[in-house]
Amino acid sequence: MSHAGREHQDRMASDDWQLTERVRASVRSGGKGDPFAAAVRATRMAMIITDPRHPDNPIVFANDAFLSLTGYGRMEVMGRNCRFLQGPETDLDTVARIRAAIAAERDVHAELLNYRKDGSTFHNALFVSPVHDEDGTLLFFFASQLDVSDRYALKDERDRAQATLDANALLLREIGHRARNDLQTITAMLTLQSSGSADPAVRAALAVAIGRVDALGTLYRAPVDAAMAHDLADLAREVAGTLVQASGRRDLALDLDLAPVPVRAEAAGPLAIILNEAVMGALRPSGAGRLALQVAREGAEVVLRVGHGPVADQADASATGEAFGTDLVDALTRQLGGVRTPDGTTFRFPAERVTL
Ligand SMILES: Cc1cc2nc3c(=O)[nH]c(=O)nc-3n(C[C@H](O)[C@H](O)[C@H](O)COP(=O)(O)O)c2cc1C
Repeated sequence: MSHAGREHQDRMASDDWQLTERVRASVRSGGKGDPFAAAVRATRMAMIITDPRHPDNPIVFANDAFLSLTGYGRMEVMGRNCRFLQGPETDLDTVARIRAAIAAERDVHAELLNYRKDGSTFHNALFVSPVHDEDGTLLFFFASQLDVSDRYALKDERDRAQATLDANALLLREIGHRARNDLQTITAMLTLQSSGSADPAVRAALAVAIGRVDALGTLYRAPVDAAMAHDLADLAREVAGTLVQASGRRDLALDLDLAPVPVRAEAAGPLAIILNEAVMGALRPSGAGRLALQVAREGAEVVLRVGHGPVADQADASATGEAFGTDLVDALTRQLGGVRTPDGTTFRFPAERVTL
């Protein structure tokens, strides 16, 4: 502080009692008397009074709560303009708003970052009011300060959590996009390989593989947030619809009974393949005019039922990959902690493993 500044402060500190008397007199003349002044002193709300008739509108009264909030001693704050609480991170627009209100002798409420004596910061909810006498002459400014840092800490935490969520959603969307492209490339490669082969067994095996890749592709078909939220009912509808359409069986009626079951991202892939294999199995018997598919929550289990036919018929599991299909379905079912009936028409999964 400059020499002149210190001199001014010293003078203010010694004037302090006189000024405080004036404040008290003013309070008394307002008819409220000492109990009010005592209450201002004792309250846990930080309060100060400044005297605009002195140069730079200095503090002439500060209660104990103000001193404990800011960490300064009484003699360190007396005679100073309150801007000493501001620092490098204090918002200058807010300060300008306070300055304008004070110049216009208006009430002002602002929240701004202030610095304690030890350099630590707090968010100050500041209320400043001018005090005029009966003639409208400005006598004092009265202010209360409330530490609202907790509220800001919560908001910071919420903002950080939201930012992480946004970043993750973006990442998932990007991954979904890439996965969709990769799966399309794989389908294209398998299709090319299939058309290059004259061997019906190879073509059939490749068709099975393409079907599985397509089933996985259903996970990434929804344009937004594809990798984030899947519903088993939607997956079942997509997979069954795609397979029935691909089978070219116009005689086949789809009988869907699908309860909404939101599933975890990591369970969606295995479930899509299981659905694919189960529906393929049900489509195999040629005479069947109806394909029934059910998704249900039964107690602590998620149940998947597919009408007609086993998952894979061991008898015709020669070169078309169905034997692999059974193993694959069993491995994936086990991976999700589930079981299937021997005929491959009913699957039960513990809800806690597959649902959100
Ligand atoms: C009664 C009163 C109390 C004030 N209390 C605070 C405070 O707690 N924290 C703060 O940063 N500014 C406070 N101010 C605002 C500053 O004293 C000052 O008016 C503000 O920084 C704008 O003026 P400047 O641009 O000249 O600094 C208070 C002002 C008055 C009149």
